[in-house]
Amino acid sequence: MTVGEELIYIKPLYLILMKNQLGNHKICKTLIKHGHVQINDQICLNPNTLIQLEDNIKVDNCLINSHPFIYMMLNKPKGYICSNIDEKYPSVLKLINRVDCYCVGRLDWDTTGLLLITNDSSLSKKLLLPHQHIYKSYEVETSKPLDVSIIKIFKQGVIIDHNYQCMSSELTIIDDYHCIVKICEGKYHQIKKMFLTCNNQVKSLKRIQFHHLTLDSKLNEGEYRLLTYKELEMIS
Ligand code: URA
Repeated sequence: MTVGEELIYIKPLYLILMKNQLGNHKICKTLIKHGHVQINDQICLNPNTLIQLEDNIKVDNCLINSHPFIYMMLNKPKGYICSNIDEKYPSVLKLINRVDCYCVGRLDWDTTGLLLITNDSSLSKKLLLPHQHIYKSYEVETSKPLDVSIIKIFKQGVIIDHNYQCMSSELTIIDDYHCIVKICEGKYHQIKKMFLTCNNQVKSLKRIQFHHLTLDSKLNEGEYRLLTYKELEMIS
């Protein structure tokens, strides 16, 4: 189910050709410069021309998809995995009815909250580069009461997986059993493992922020919507 209006993202012509599988950067730019591409039946020689909502594009007189990019935020429910194929649990892609997209980063099957899904591999690769240190915030419910000492321990960086030194993270206590944790890396089960080092356990985990995106409070679990232009700009 979608919430909000359908969005068309304004992109340069050569990227649209690439997404239509017409070749790499070089080939698509050459096709355009050699006059093979028409926008609204007019030959266009500039690969960087921005394609607008109403534009149609033809390559050698064949119509192609003028708006092939999609970016959405899903409020992931429990019981789904972030892989493209179903395993023990179904893939989140079942919820959006698209097989041509993938998740930007992964959440565990039992983690809920903000998940970015796209078919734009270049954005996804960029956001997942380890040196980018993209921030993610999680609401955490713990099985034992939280002690204030954990703030300092997380800030100093705990050791997980025997010898991996986590980067400094920010923990804000909300009440005895609830806190917000902000981390800038994404090791497998990272938050759960971090709490285990402090003799506590994560009871429930919900991602509320990813980079500059905040989970839309209007989305119920299992619902998604397309990103706005502004949101896309903020993470691009
Ligand atoms: N840390 C975890 O332990 N699980 C997640 O799904 C995300 C972060």
